[in-house]
Amino acid sequence: MALSRKLVQQRSSVFGSRSMSWWRSVEPAPKDPILGVTEAFLADPSPDKVNVGVGAYRDDNGKPVVLQCVREAERRIAGNLNMEYLPMGGSVKMVEETLKLAYGENSEHIKDKRIAAVQALSGTGACRLFADFQKRFRPESQIYIPVPTWANHHNIWRDAHVPQKTFHYYHPETKGLDFAGLVDDIRNAPNGSFFLLHACAHNPTGVDPSEEQWKEISKLIKERGHFPFFDMAYQGFASGDPERDAKAIRIFLEDGHLIGIAQSYAKNMGLYGQRVGCLSVLCEDEKQAVAVKSQLQMLARPMYSNPPVHGALVVSTILGDQELKTLWLKEVEGMADRIIGMRTALRENLEKVGSPLSWEHVTNQIGMFCYSGMTPEQVDRLTNEFHIYMTRNGRISMAGVTTGNVGYLANAIHEVTKST
Ligand code: LMR
Repeated sequence: MALSRKLVQQRSSVFGSRSMSWWRSVEPAPKDPILGVTEAFLADPSPDKVNVGVGAYRDDNGKPVVLQCVREAERRIAGNLNMEYLPMGGSVKMVEETLKLAYGENSEHIKDKRIAAVQALSGTGACRLFADFQKRFRPESQIYIPVPTWANHHNIWRDAHVPQKTFHYYHPETKGLDFAGLVDDIRNAPNGSFFLLHACAHNPTGVDPSEEQWKEISKLIKERGHFPFFDMAYQGFASGDPERDAKAIRIFLEDGHLIGIAQSYAKNMGLYGQRVGCLSVLCEDEKQAVAVKSQLQMLARPMYSNPPVHGALVVSTILGDQELKTLWLKEVEGMADRIIGMRTALRENLEKVGSPLSWEHVTNQIGMFCYSGMTPEQVDRLTNEFHIYMTRNGRISMAGVTTGNVGYLANAIHEVTKST
């Protein structure tokens, strides 16, 4: 009896200590360098606060925007939507329309059914699915990532266990493209490497290669037998026209590359929280495309089974209807134009407050971001002294700049940079 009580005590202390120790070694994760900025912004009670951190479009009052084409699509689908599962590869109609945006309305590759494509959980999900696919079928390969890049790219390929290398991209002195460094790195990478390229509106720098430079990059990547993977998160935000923003991809297609593309409707349709996007892989022929698609689905199944339906239906309703598509194109142009206007306003205000520094790059760079050149310490001062929130790499999300805050922002930037 005494023994059994002792045993019970021992057992309960073992189980007790075991259950208590399961997560004892777990340390808090570091804050996300981008989404952590939003958290800090929300926690600040100051009425002066400005959020130019996350890359999410705002109107000139600093408010999130739901596009009219989206509202109209939602009105049309309301009541007609059942809640059935989508197939593992997602909405066939949405994927079809999405491919046309990237590969071209009359693409031969679409006609020849050479593209393996699945709906993905926005651009992040598309990149992650590709990274997992790369690891499974090219386990020895590595990925070359530009310096700098969107911080999450590193997490994505790290968690997929794909070794990462970097290539030169941005030149801090010229605040432009380091074309010579980029070309050297492509040339020196082992044949058959994977290269991550931003199709347009590079995040975070706002610096894109020119058309001529893209042609050279494409030629070199072909010569070296590398695989180009495009992250196209901002189609439409560079020039205001999604067709023009697909130029780099079209150059690679003309040169006969097999490519992969991650597409997203977060930015250009404002469907941030709907998580709707697409991963496509251009294959040698239809048979290969069928096999690749089936393997992409196989990767999706144990992760999230099948993607969500609502955002996909919004997209296919808009793109499948000429009137709504025209409205969408107009609205994308409107968003891009407001950002371009804010670039001019920011530069003018910086000059007006008497900044002795050159701010030419603010208007030279394109897309949602301005890579200001400010140091992490200067950014910390902006946050601590002026309640201005942005990523510590000096990236300003131009989408958060408005006619109401641009003067305040310019003055604060001048204050923290004037002694440099
Ligand atoms: C950004 O770069 O701010 C956006 O792409 C949002 C994100 O998920 O990081």
